[in-house]
Amino acid sequence: MTALTLSTAAAPGLRADAIVVGVAKGAQGPVVAPGAEAVDKAYDGKLADVLETLGASGAEGEVTKLPAPSGFKAPLVLAVGLGAEPEKDAGYDAEALRRAAGVAARALAGTKKAAFALPLAEAADAGAVGEGALLGAYSFDTYKETAQTNGAAKSRNGKAPVADVVLLGGKPRDRAYKAAIERATAVSEELNRARDLINTPPNDLNPAAFAAVAQDAAKAHGLKVQVLDEKALAKGGYGGILGVGSGSASAPRLVKVSYTSPKAKKHLALVGKGITYDSGGISLKPAGHNETMKCDMSGAAAVFAAVVAAARLGLEVNVTGWLALAENMPSGSATRPGDVLRMFSGKTVEVLNTDAEGRLVLADALWAASQEKPDAIVDVATLTGAMMLALGSRTFGIMANDDAFRTAVHEAAEEVGEEAWPMPLPEHLRKGMDSPVADIANMGERMGGGLVAGLFLREFVGEGITWAHLDIAGPAFNEQGPFGYTPKGGTGSAVRTLVRLAELTAAGDLG
Ligand code: BES
Ligand code: MN
Ligand code: ZN
Repeated sequence: MTALTLSTAAAPGLRADAIVVGVAKGAQGPVVAPGAEAVDKAYDGKLADVLETLGASGAEGEVTKLPAPSGFKAPLVLAVGLGAEPEKDAGYDAEALRRAAGVAARALAGTKKAAFALPLAEAADAGAVGEGALLGAYSFDTYKETAQTNGAAKSRNGKAPVADVVLLGGKPRDRAYKAAIERATAVSEELNRARDLINTPPNDLNPAAFAAVAQDAAKAHGLKVQVLDEKALAKGGYGGILGVGSGSASAPRLVKVSYTSPKAKKHLALVGKGITYDSGGISLKPAGHNETMKCDMSGAAAVFAAVVAAARLGLEVNVTGWLALAENMPSGSATRPGDVLRMFSGKTVEVLNTDAEGRLVLADALWAASQEKPDAIVDVATLTGAMMLALGSRTFGIMANDDAFRTAVHEAAEEVGEEAWPMPLPEHLRKGMDSPVADIANMGERMGGGLVAGLFLREFVGEGITWAHLDIAGPAFNEQGPFGYTPKGGTGSAVRTLVRLAELTAAGDLG
């Protein structure tokens, strides 16, 4: 794992593999961003001209490598694009810094130590650069083994992430800067853990394995964990989770992870969809729609990461995470289209499509979470392809039973640099889920499928509890190339929003 530190060292004398500087798009060409003054000086104040000669414009995502000036201990200067130069007196946008740091960290894979000389006007900027660097440095190479020609040892074939990231120009003794670095480290490490869980192939991460990982990690951070196995689920009447898991050789689990603070005044419950593989079940997905379905536990991974991060940060709030874990498979014991499930809440559900399984496991977990009467519940799920069609692959949808809460969640997402958008829960779509045999069906109108799913979930939230639903089907898994601090594969979508919500709840500004 990459280590993050603040340093007052001057760039020229620093022993490192590379010095990272920022370059922005100015009105008259590229401009060197604050933080790189010493580097610019060593190029006789002509770094911007040198960069322009090399073709740099300062555009977001751009990387320009140049030899370090003579006298520098580091051999390489890496200039990373920050996008448009901010207006006079305005600072660089936190998300622009986060992305640029991520791009630089990715470009520096294979090196040992990098010094970042990016603009750090405020403590929050150090947090953003640190977060971008740690998230950008992520790589998943657990399964990358290449037999060497000599037939002996096997070696990883990916480049190792940069081991040490030093931020220059921050204030290492300033409490706010220190806190920002600690926060960036805790959040990024837990977010990267969520990415690891998502990227782990489903033959290795079944519900029991996920529960075991949660148990180990939670213990290491002093959290309480309760795991309901298939017997406990049957005894408790969790018909939704059991119904979805019944087709799989790997039994389902409901995991409850609790972080409690002695100073807590509020309780936030987080519920995550944890389908370790979604084949669709008897309503089998066609080829072309199932290759990435190991990502269907991204909601549970995000919830788990957020609870551990809240504990590491010592937030003064109680946070309970509920991981609804099951594998959705077709078999002789699988739930059939036409079956009726008796849910944990007592409601009955006619399963019309076994591929609408997420809402079934979430319904039981939402009802379980509701029993503790938390101040608010937020669920996170890769729930519908419809949400992807509506919002694309980088934006998650937010639905809620309370307009002000939905707005607060949206603002929290924006604050931490996650793209999200509010979606409605139109009442008229409810009747599409009327069932002739049960209280509700698990499918309704095709149009507005993401909203129909949200309306279904709403029925399993306890009376009077504030609730929001995040449909992360789009941004949870990046099937295209890496960008900014986002790698290919599992992204850790919603983790930062959930942590922010826990912080806001602790401050009494939410729920
Ligand atoms: N896990 C899928 C949703 C999904 C699709 C997530 C693509 C990520 C990428 C979910 O369980 C599902 O299959 N939903 C169905 C619901 C339908 C049967 C009502 C869908 O969206 O097609
Ligand atoms: Mn499905
Ligand atoms: Zn699913």
